Amino acid sequence: AEIASTTQAIVARSKALEGPLLTILHDVQEAFGHVPQSALPVIAEGLNLSRAEVHGVVSFYHDYREAPAGRHVIKLCRAEACQSMGGDELAERLMGLLGLDWHETSADGAVTLEPVYCLGLCACAPAAMVDGEVLGRLDADAVSELATVVRS
Ligand code: FES
Repeated sequence: AEIASTTQAIVARSKALEGPLLTILHDVQEAFGHVPQSALPVIAEGLNLSRAEVHGVVSFYHDYREAPAGRHVIKLCRAEACQSMGGDELAERLMGLLGLDWHETSADGAVTLEPVYCLGLCACAPAAMVDGEVLGRLDADAVSELATVVRS
């Protein structure tokens, strides 16, 4: 019920904007940490869209989470400068250590792994953001340590 009423308020606030859907989804994610399934029909009704249309937008934009995030969120940069500095290998390593693919959260709720496309830290590539803090010049050791920290 809380999801429905909060979502209704968010929709009412932005409904009159031009192209309000992205703003509304953003605000819903701010409010709940993700875009809950039960918010979709409320948004759809408010904007006169089908539920499938709203869902299509949520899954198209990777910034929206469809499930709650873990206690820690690792965003690993996947953009060019970081890739050219060994970002792919680090990503493979981290995914192996955590047992997660992109956008997945560990079963114990400890950690979510997400890709990000440039953190503005290209000079310190490869870079990541962990719980809102930026990390640069990652190497295999740093990634192992990170995996240990987020699981403890
Ligand atoms: Fe990774 Fe810019 S490409 S921080």
